[in-house]
Amino acid sequence: MNHPIGIFDSGVGGTSIWKEITTLLPYENTVFLADSKYAPYGKRSKDEIISLSIKNTEKLLELNCKIIVVACNTATTNAIKTLRSTYDIPIIGIEPAIKPAAIHTKTKKVGVLATKGTLSSQLFTETSDLYAQNIEVIEVIGSGLVELIEDGKINSKEMYQLLHSYVTPMIQKNIDYLVLGCTHYPYLIPILKKMLPDKITIIDSGEAVAKQTKNILTTNDLLQSDTITLGVHKLYTNGNASVLKDILHNHAVKHTVNTLSF
Ligand code: DGL
Repeated sequence: MNHPIGIFDSGVGGTSIWKEITTLLPYENTVFLADSKYAPYGKRSKDEIISLSIKNTEKLLELNCKIIVVACNTATTNAIKTLRSTYDIPIIGIEPAIKPAAIHTKTKKVGVLATKGTLSSQLFTETSDLYAQNIEVIEVIGSGLVELIEDGKINSKEMYQLLHSYVTPMIQKNIDYLVLGCTHYPYLIPILKKMLPDKITIIDSGEAVAKQTKNILTTNDLLQSDTITLGVHKLYTNGNASVLKDILHNHAVKHTVNTLSF
């Protein structure tokens, strides 16, 4: 089926997931929505996050998407149950990768950096209780990080200082895994690598979400049948298009970036 895969995030960060999907599924067409006008979601109430997620899903359905990928931990942990009970098409979500970190940690201490909305959600608490019973999870809210990324200030001094203040207590507690529980944060990995001791492994859920998307497309018989022509990728923002363009500048997959009101 040549209808596109629809992907949305509260802003530009979900492109970290879009990149994984377009790499794994090169023949699929995609539509990405960056809801930057309403970012950050992390500070919003559950009800607000649900209505924004519905708004984005409706737009993607209007654009003929065959599957929805919620490329936002905050939207997934607060709204995916409602989305799944409201819409008939498959809906994929993303959650902090606590499970692999809990399985592999040797120090029995794992750090999770995520938004307030994710860390305070019921879904995150359930996942954490399920997989991290015998380990200590050091949760830190990444206040301000999404805002700086949305402002195009990834490599700023403020970013460096904020990140440093968030990871220092985790390093002191002897974590050996740092889980990035927000799709904006993979863009911070180069800075984090400079700050963290080598023994700390950084994990995010991007690759797992791409694999899950492929599995669900396959089992629902929704994969693109044309495996000769590369996919067409349309990215839309209701915020500043240059921030979205900049974050994608060295990504090899051909795409277009435009503004759209939604
Ligand atoms: N990319 C979103 C996430 O994964 C950021 C949330 C926000 O806008 O605060 O949680």
